[in-house]
Amino acid sequence: MDNINIENLLDPISVKVFFKDYWGKKHLVIRRNKYKGLYTWSDFNTYMNRFPANKSLQILDYDGKDGKWCLDKMRNGQLKLPKLSKQDVFNLWKKGKTFVIPFLEYEKKELVDICFEFEKYFGRGQANVYVSPGANSKSYPAHGDSTENFLFHTEGKTNWTLYKEFKPDQPKTVLEKVTLEPGDLLYIPKGQYHEVTTSEPRILISIHFANKEGQSLEKFKITSVSDNKRDKWYDWKPFIKNNKQATTERLMNKKNWSKPYFNQSK
Ligand SMILES: [Fe+2]
Repeated sequence: MDNINIENLLDPISVKVFFKDYWGKKHLVIRRNKYKGLYTWSDFNTYMNRFPANKSLQILDYDGKDGKWCLDKMRNGQLKLPKLSKQDVFNLWKKGKTFVIPFLEYEKKELVDICFEFEKYFGRGQANVYVSPGANSKSYPAHGDSTENFLFHTEGKTNWTLYKEFKPDQPKTVLEKVTLEPGDLLYIPKGQYHEVTTSEPRILISIHFANKEGQSLEKFKITSVSDNKRDKWYDWKPFIKNNKQATTERLMNKKNWSKPYFNQSK
């Protein structure tokens, strides 16, 4: 995977052109073949098999009436939702429901690295993963978000409709309809209306950020990584040097072994 820095993240659009022409103004489709490994079917498989030990999970239209099932809100009693078993969740997946996994940035180092990089230019962000098992899996209706959105496509094709209008207007004028593939990036500025439909199994990651307070092209603030309060990614590899001890000869590996089997003198 390419190094994670803003030049590579926006490649082949330059950072200057991005902020001057697109940031806060209009969506940007970048067709390319990068960062496909950020979140794969294998990663999703591992995450889902952890159920019910997962931190968060949402299932869209779980009840066929546009209801959203939310694991943490069910757990803390914030919403009255059914307690679903792993089998129930798997059945909903087989029925074609779209799953959303919010706050996933600490699942993989690359996702935290992307947050650290974008947070030099934007406020605090997070990574949410959208996963659909097949065609016509229901997602959100046309809406505008309250954050700056970078959508990394990693598996399957996703069909997008981008509207001209920004919140609080209503979505009316279609600016672009586009099908994005693994390796493509879509930027959607805060508030711009958009909608997704699925025609095959797909995964995409929405990495989104608030804007820094008072951020503008005229007075552009860049925060250094060392000033970022976000928990860093620690390398949990063993750091205590293990002095290799001389191994005792294993008597049972000997061709002709004699009693006693465990020789105390060795
Ligand atoms: Fe959205």
